[in-house]
Amino acid sequence: MPSTIRRPGLKRGRQGKSPVQAYRWRNGRLAVLEQRELPRHVRYFQCRTHGQVARAIRDMSIRGAPAIGCAAAFGLALAARERAFKNPAAFIAHLEEAKKHLGATRPTAVNLFWALERMARLWKKSPPAADLAHLLEREALAIHAEDIASCRTIGDAGAKLLPRNAVVLTHCNAGALATAGYGTAVGVIRSAQARGKIKSVYVDETRPYLQGARLTAWELEQEGIPYEILTDNMAGHILKTEKVDAVIVGADRIAANGDTANKIGTYSLAVLAHYHRVPFYVAAPLSTVDLATSTGAGIPIEERSAEEVLTVRGLRLAPADARARHPAFDVTPARLITAIITDRGVFAPAKLHSKLKGARVP
Ligand code: MRU
Repeated sequence: MPSTIRRPGLKRGRQGKSPVQAYRWRNGRLAVLEQRELPRHVRYFQCRTHGQVARAIRDMSIRGAPAIGCAAAFGLALAARERAFKNPAAFIAHLEEAKKHLGATRPTAVNLFWALERMARLWKKSPPAADLAHLLEREALAIHAEDIASCRTIGDAGAKLLPRNAVVLTHCNAGALATAGYGTAVGVIRSAQARGKIKSVYVDETRPYLQGARLTAWELEQEGIPYEILTDNMAGHILKTEKVDAVIVGADRIAANGDTANKIGTYSLAVLAHYHRVPFYVAAPLSTVDLATSTGAGIPIEERSAEEVLTVRGLRLAPADARARHPAFDVTPARLITAIITDRGVFAPAKLHSKLKGARVP
């Protein structure tokens, strides 16, 4: 091992305690953790309306595919309580409008649309209008609880794939902050750590939003899991010169053929892992699988503002007239993925469709 790489010592963490929560539902309000300020400030702000939830998702105060699905579900629960309606038709029209508003926030993660459709099924069943607010709240809480259970199942299944003393590399943040709690890719690391299997984790910084450096590092820190941050362009060098046992990432949408959309930079990492013969795992719940989209070519890729690339925390890096691109996600072809770790089992990407087509997404 080159002497330039300093191995992190084991840190004392908050193992055994519950992971941080990206949001909390209390007394009919959604408190959202302002992830843009992490790790410097830990601050929750209250959302009382679906519009506030939509803004929190669009502006990335809350982010990560399962977390935005859960937040949108609570957004609809809030919409049902926002005001009084003259008649049931006006109430349903308001809920439909709220659903449209929440669905227009971010296009790539399918969990958002999955959660909104699941919630909408409740008012399509035409229950008495007086019951609807309660039913929507109960459904959002069910989506929340199911996501935590799914992440734990994924964590346990993924941990079994890792050798003892594993060195893992991850990209972006697929942790408790990106889900209802626990995490998908970070959930695998968490479960493996609980079994004493993790030696250390390489965390890609994940430009431009720095989800790795700010959020994944913060979560691992709290768990006492040894980690080192890499800028994204260091991954090739590390995979070539170090022992890395696996790359594990989350997903925003997995097409029927296994092609997977995840944070920009995931595709390059998959190519590098393939070249260096390092297993490349995608960890995601069934709510991230979109069997209606046959291949990755059909996945909409969010383009965000160039300003987010040209500046870091308000500081302009590039010349005043510089232009930039900002695709927020990319698609990793199925053939570069060793296995997809889901809450319904671990599958080769080619088997995903046949294994899951009968699985009912509640
Ligand atoms: O833009 P973000 O921060 O919402 O992107 C998040 C990711 O790409 C995650 O890897 C993905 O949502 C999986 S989260 C369990």
